[in-house]
Amino acid sequence: MNNKTVYLNGQYVPLDEAKVSVMDRGFLFGDGVYEVIPCYLGQLFHFQAHVDRLTASLAGIRMANPYSTEQWLDIFKPLMDVSENQYIYVQITRGVAPKRDHAFPEKTPPTIFAMCNNILPFAGLETGVKAITLDDSRWQFCNIKAIALLAHLLHRQDAVEKDCAEAILINRDGFVTEGAASNLFAVIDGVLLTPPKSNQILAGITRDVILELAAKNNIACREANISLAELKTASEIWVTSSTREIIPVVELDGVAVADGKVGAVWHAMNSIFQAYKQSLL
Ligand code: PDD
Repeated sequence: MNNKTVYLNGQYVPLDEAKVSVMDRGFLFGDGVYEVIPCYLGQLFHFQAHVDRLTASLAGIRMANPYSTEQWLDIFKPLMDVSENQYIYVQITRGVAPKRDHAFPEKTPPTIFAMCNNILPFAGLETGVKAITLDDSRWQFCNIKAIALLAHLLHRQDAVEKDCAEAILINRDGFVTEGAASNLFAVIDGVLLTPPKSNQILAGITRDVILELAAKNNIACREANISLAELKTASEIWVTSSTREIIPVVELDGVAVADGKVGAVWHAMNSIFQAYKQSLL
Protein backbone atom coordinates (compact mmCIF):
# COMPACT_ATOMS: atom_id res chain seq x y z
CA MET A 1 0.00 0.00 0.00
CA ASN A 2 1.25 3.48 -0.83
CA ASN A 3 -1.11 6.28 0.00
CA LYS A 4 1.19 9.13 -0.93
CA THR A 5 -0.76 11.80 -2.77
CA VAL A 6 -0.05 12.19 -6.48
CA TYR A 7 -1.55 14.41 -9.18
CA LEU A 8 -3.40 12.89 -12.12
CA ASN A 9 -5.42 14.89 -14.66
CA GLY A 10 -6.58 17.65 -12.33
CA GLN A 11 -7.05 15.54 -9.21
CA TYR A 12 -5.00 14.71 -6.15
CA VAL A 13 -5.35 11.02 -5.36
CA PRO A 14 -3.50 8.36 -3.34
CA LEU A 15 -0.80 6.73 -5.49
CA ASP A 16 -2.53 3.34 -5.29
CA GLU A 17 -5.70 4.84 -6.73
CA ALA A 18 -4.03 6.74 -9.60
CA LYS A 19 -5.04 4.74 -12.68
CA VAL A 20 -4.45 5.32 -16.39
CA SER A 21 -6.22 3.55 -19.26
CA VAL A 22 -4.38 0.79 -21.13
CA MET A 23 -5.27 2.83 -24.25
CA ASP A 24 -3.08 5.67 -23.04
CA ARG A 25 -0.51 6.41 -25.72
CA GLY A 26 2.16 6.61 -23.05
CA PHE A 27 1.49 2.95 -22.22
CA LEU A 28 1.01 1.75 -25.81
CA PHE A 29 3.72 3.76 -27.57
CA GLY A 30 5.84 5.60 -25.00
CA ASP A 31 4.27 8.67 -26.61
CA GLY A 32 5.06 11.35 -24.06
CA VAL A 33 7.69 13.43 -22.29
CA TYR A 34 8.73 14.05 -18.70
CA GLU A 35 10.71 16.28 -16.36
CA VAL A 36 12.56 15.70 -13.11
CA ILE A 37 12.80 18.86 -11.00
CA PRO A 38 14.72 19.00 -7.71
CA CYS A 39 12.83 20.51 -4.83
CA TYR A 40 15.04 21.32 -1.86
CA LEU A 41 13.10 22.02 1.34
CA GLY A 42 10.12 23.17 -0.69
CA GLN A 43 12.15 25.29 -3.17
CA LEU A 44 12.08 24.17 -6.79
CA PHE A 45 15.61 24.38 -8.24
CA HIS A 46 15.89 26.32 -11.53
CA PHE A 47 12.16 25.83 -12.01
CA GLN A 48 11.82 28.09 -15.06
CA ALA A 49 14.63 26.24 -16.85
CA HIS A 50 12.85 22.93 -16.23
CA VAL A 51 9.54 24.35 -17.46
CA ASP A 52 11.29 25.73 -20.56
CA ARG A 53 12.83 22.32 -21.26
CA LEU A 54 9.42 20.68 -20.77
CA THR A 55 7.94 23.12 -23.30
CA ALA A 56 10.78 22.31 -25.73
CA SER A 57 10.32 18.54 -25.23
CA LEU A 58 6.57 18.90 -25.84
CA ALA A 59 7.21 20.99 -28.96
CA GLY A 60 9.63 18.26 -30.09
CA ILE A 61 6.75 15.76 -30.10
CA ARG A 62 4.32 18.36 -31.47
CA MET A 63 2.39 19.03 -28.29
CA ALA A 64 1.75 22.32 -26.51
CA ASN A 65 2.61 22.94 -22.87
CA PRO A 66 -0.87 22.95 -21.30
CA TYR A 67 0.07 25.18 -18.34
CA SER A 68 1.97 28.34 -17.48
CA THR A 69 4.90 28.26 -15.03
CA GLU A 70 2.56 29.60 -12.30
CA GLN A 71 -0.03 26.91 -13.02
CA TRP A 72 2.61 24.18 -12.82
CA LEU A 73 3.76 25.61 -9.49
CA ASP A 74 0.18 25.49 -8.17
CA ILE A 75 -0.09 21.85 -9.30
CA PHE A 76 3.21 20.80 -7.70
CA LYS A 77 2.94 22.68 -4.37
CA PRO A 78 0.48 20.31 -2.64
CA LEU A 79 2.81 17.38 -3.45
CA MET A 80 5.89 18.93 -1.86
CA ASP A 81 7.20 18.47 1.69
CA VAL A 82 9.11 21.54 2.89
CA SER A 83 11.15 19.48 5.36
CA GLU A 84 12.68 17.16 2.73
CA ASN A 85 14.97 17.22 -0.28
CA GLN A 86 12.80 15.91 -3.06
CA TYR A 87 12.21 15.83 -6.77
CA ILE A 88 9.05 16.30 -8.79
CA TYR A 89 8.48 13.76 -11.56
CA VAL A 90 6.00 15.07 -14.12
CA GLN A 91 4.90 13.16 -17.19
CA ILE A 92 2.66 14.25 -20.05
CA THR A 93 1.45 11.77 -22.66
CA ARG A 94 -0.61 12.29 -25.79
CA GLY A 95 -3.58 10.88 -23.88
CA VAL A 96 -6.11 8.11 -24.36
CA ALA A 97 -7.16 7.52 -27.97
CA PRO A 98 -10.14 5.37 -28.99
CA LYS A 99 -7.99 2.99 -31.03
CA ARG A 100 -4.34 2.01 -31.34
CA ASP A 101 -3.07 4.00 -34.29
CA HIS A 102 0.50 5.18 -34.83
CA ALA A 103 -0.72 8.49 -36.29
CA PHE A 104 -1.62 11.15 -33.74
CA PRO A 105 -5.27 11.18 -32.64
CA GLU A 106 -7.23 14.40 -33.09
CA LYS A 107 -8.23 16.46 -30.07
CA THR A 108 -7.28 13.96 -27.39
CA PRO A 109 -6.61 15.63 -24.03
CA PRO A 110 -3.12 14.84 -22.67
CA THR A 111 -2.62 12.63 -19.63
CA ILE A 112 -0.82 14.65 -16.96
CA PHE A 113 0.76 12.92 -13.99
CA ALA A 114 2.99 14.29 -11.24
CA MET A 115 4.47 12.88 -8.06
CA CYS A 116 7.08 13.98 -5.57
CA ASN A 117 9.68 11.64 -4.06
CA ASN A 118 12.52 12.12 -1.61
CA ILE A 119 16.03 12.34 -3.04
CA LEU A 120 17.97 9.64 -1.25
CA PRO A 121 21.64 10.37 -0.51
CA PHE A 122 23.75 8.80 -3.26
CA ALA A 123 26.36 6.42 -1.87
CA GLY A 124 29.05 7.14 -4.49
CA LEU A 125 29.11 10.91 -4.01
CA GLU A 126 32.18 11.10 -1.75
CA THR A 127 34.01 7.95 -2.88
CA GLY A 128 33.39 8.10 -6.60
CA VAL A 129 31.84 5.40 -8.79
CA LYS A 130 32.79 3.02 -11.56
CA ALA A 131 31.52 3.51 -15.13
CA ILE A 132 31.73 1.65 -18.41
CA THR A 133 31.68 3.00 -21.94
CA LEU A 134 29.14 1.65 -24.44
CA ASP A 135 28.18 2.41 -28.03
CA ASP A 136 25.31 4.91 -27.88
CA SER A 137 22.41 3.00 -29.40
CA ARG A 138 19.75 5.65 -28.77
CA TRP A 139 17.67 7.58 -31.30
CA GLN A 140 18.42 10.93 -32.95
CA PHE A 141 16.26 13.10 -30.63
CA CYS A 142 18.05 12.74 -27.31
CA ASN A 143 17.42 16.47 -26.68
CA ILE A 144 13.75 15.53 -26.12
CA LYS A 145 13.16 14.21 -22.59
CA ALA A 146 10.99 11.38 -23.91
CA ILE A 147 9.40 8.78 -21.63
CA ALA A 148 10.44 6.10 -24.17
CA LEU A 149 13.65 5.22 -22.33
CA LEU A 150 14.25 1.61 -23.34
CA ALA A 151 17.67 2.21 -24.90
CA HIS A 152 18.70 4.26 -21.83
CA LEU A 153 17.51 1.45 -19.55
CA LEU A 154 19.44 -1.21 -21.47
CA HIS A 155 22.59 0.91 -21.27
CA ARG A 156 22.15 1.51 -17.53
CA GLN A 157 21.42 -2.18 -16.91
CA ASP A 158 24.60 -3.20 -18.76
CA ALA A 159 26.48 -0.90 -16.38
CA VAL A 160 24.75 -2.26 -13.28
CA GLU A 161 25.50 -5.84 -14.33
CA LYS A 162 29.19 -4.88 -14.51
CA ASP A 163 29.01 -3.42 -11.00
CA CYS A 164 29.10 0.12 -12.42
CA ALA A 165 26.94 3.12 -11.53
CA GLU A 166 26.68 4.57 -15.04
CA ALA A 167 27.24 3.85 -18.73
CA ILE A 168 29.06 6.57 -20.65
CA LEU A 169 27.87 6.56 -24.24
CA ILE A 170 30.04 6.91 -27.34
CA ASN A 171 28.57 7.93 -30.70
CA ARG A 172 29.41 6.44 -34.10
CA ASP A 173 32.14 9.03 -34.66
CA GLY A 174 33.91 7.96 -31.48
CA PHE A 175 32.86 10.96 -29.36
CA VAL A 176 31.28 10.94 -25.92
CA THR A 177 27.63 11.96 -25.81
CA GLU A 178 26.47 11.59 -22.20
CA GLY A 179 25.59 9.03 -19.54
CA ALA A 180 22.55 6.74 -19.69
CA ALA A 181 20.78 9.16 -17.34
CA SER A 182 23.31 11.95 -16.86
CA ASN A 183 25.57 14.45 -18.61
CA LEU A 184 29.33 14.08 -18.70
CA PHE A 185 32.19 16.36 -17.66
CA ALA A 186 35.90 15.55 -17.90
CA VAL A 187 39.02 17.42 -16.81
CA ILE A 188 41.54 17.08 -19.65
CA ASP A 189 44.85 18.98 -19.62
CA GLY A 190 43.54 21.01 -16.69
CA VAL A 191 40.37 22.20 -18.45
CA LEU A 192 36.85 21.13 -17.49
CA LEU A 193 35.14 19.95 -20.70
CA THR A 194 31.60 18.87 -21.51
CA PRO A 195 30.14 17.92 -24.91
CA PRO A 196 28.20 20.76 -26.59
CA LYS A 197 24.40 20.72 -26.70
CA SER A 198 23.02 18.85 -29.70
CA ASN A 199 20.29 16.39 -30.59
CA GLN A 200 22.61 13.68 -29.23
CA ILE A 201 22.34 14.77 -25.60
CA LEU A 202 19.76 16.00 -23.14
CA ALA A 203 20.53 19.60 -22.25
CA GLY A 204 20.89 18.97 -18.52
CA ILE A 205 19.90 21.72 -16.12
CA THR A 206 22.64 20.55 -13.72
CA ARG A 207 25.09 20.80 -16.65
CA ASP A 208 24.05 24.43 -17.29
CA VAL A 209 24.42 25.31 -13.60
CA ILE A 210 27.92 23.78 -13.49
CA LEU A 211 28.98 25.74 -16.59
CA GLU A 212 27.69 28.97 -15.01
CA LEU A 213 29.35 28.27 -11.66
CA ALA A 214 32.66 27.34 -13.33
CA ALA A 215 32.68 30.63 -15.27
CA LYS A 216 31.87 32.67 -12.13
CA ASN A 217 34.52 30.91 -10.06
CA ASN A 218 37.39 31.01 -12.57
CA ILE A 219 37.45 27.28 -13.20
CA ALA A 220 38.72 26.84 -16.76
CA CYS A 221 35.81 25.28 -18.58
CA ARG A 222 34.47 24.91 -22.11
CA GLU A 223 32.11 22.92 -24.29
CA ALA A 224 34.03 20.57 -26.59
CA ASN A 225 33.68 17.23 -28.29
CA ILE A 226 35.60 14.58 -26.35
CA SER A 227 36.83 11.46 -28.12
CA LEU A 228 36.95 8.15 -26.27
CA ALA A 229 40.76 8.27 -26.53
CA GLU A 230 40.78 11.74 -24.92
CA LEU A 231 38.37 10.63 -22.20
CA LYS A 232 40.84 7.88 -21.28
CA THR A 233 43.47 10.57 -20.59
CA ALA A 234 41.19 12.59 -18.28
CA SER A 235 42.38 13.42 -14.78
CA GLU A 236 38.74 13.61 -13.64
CA ILE A 237 35.42 12.39 -15.02
CA TRP A 238 32.02 13.35 -13.57
CA VAL A 239 28.44 12.47 -14.43
CA THR A 240 25.73 14.96 -13.48
CA SER A 241 21.97 14.95 -13.02
CA SER A 242 19.19 16.52 -10.99
CA THR A 243 18.82 13.58 -8.64
CA ARG A 244 22.49 12.59 -8.19
CA GLU A 245 24.07 16.04 -8.67
CA ILE A 246 27.81 15.74 -9.49
CA ILE A 247 29.17 12.22 -9.23
CA PRO A 248 32.90 11.61 -9.65
CA VAL A 249 33.86 8.58 -11.76
CA VAL A 250 37.05 7.01 -10.40
CA GLU A 251 37.21 3.92 -12.61
CA LEU A 252 36.40 3.71 -16.34
CA ASP A 253 36.22 0.35 -18.13
CA GLY A 254 38.10 -1.28 -15.26
CA VAL A 255 40.97 1.25 -15.32
CA ALA A 256 41.53 3.88 -12.62
CA VAL A 257 40.85 7.50 -13.65
CA ALA A 258 44.19 9.21 -12.85
CA ASP A 259 45.13 7.95 -9.36
CA GLY A 260 41.68 6.43 -8.83
CA LYS A 261 40.74 9.04 -6.23
CA VAL A 262 38.15 11.79 -6.32
CA GLY A 263 39.87 14.82 -7.88
CA ALA A 264 40.54 18.36 -6.70
CA VAL A 265 38.34 20.03 -9.33
CA TRP A 266 35.39 17.88 -8.21
CA HIS A 267 35.98 18.89 -4.58
CA ALA A 268 36.05 22.56 -5.61
CA MET A 269 32.98 22.34 -7.84
CA ASN A 270 30.97 20.25 -5.42
CA SER A 271 31.55 22.81 -2.62
CA ILE A 272 30.59 25.64 -4.96
CA PHE A 273 27.48 23.75 -6.10
CA GLN A 274 26.37 22.94 -2.52
CA ALA A 275 26.92 26.55 -1.43
CA TYR A 276 24.93 27.76 -4.45
CA LYS A 277 22.03 25.42 -3.60
CA GLN A 278 22.08 26.69 -0.01
CA SER A 279 22.03 30.30 -1.23
CA LEU A 280 18.73 29.68 -3.02
CA LEU A 281 16.91 28.39 0.07
N1 PDD B 1 17.65 12.28 -16.01
N2 PDD B 1 20.94 13.08 -19.80
C1 PDD B 1 20.00 12.14 -19.61
C2 PDD B 1 19.82 11.09 -20.66
C3 PDD B 1 19.20 12.15 -18.45
O1 PDD B 1 18.25 11.21 -18.29
C4 PDD B 1 19.43 13.15 -17.46
C5 PDD B 1 18.64 13.23 -16.20
C6 PDD B 1 20.43 14.11 -17.70
C7 PDD B 1 20.72 15.22 -16.75
O2 PDD B 1 19.75 16.24 -16.82
P1 PDD B 1 19.40 17.15 -15.54
O3 PDD B 1 20.68 17.69 -15.04
O4 PDD B 1 18.51 18.19 -16.07
O5 PDD B 1 18.74 16.23 -14.53
C8 PDD B 1 21.16 14.04 -18.89
C9 PDD B 1 16.72 12.35 -14.90
C10 PDD B 1 17.30 12.75 -13.59
C11 PDD B 1 15.89 11.08 -14.86
O6 PDD B 1 15.62 10.56 -15.94
O7 PDD B 1 15.50 10.64 -13.78
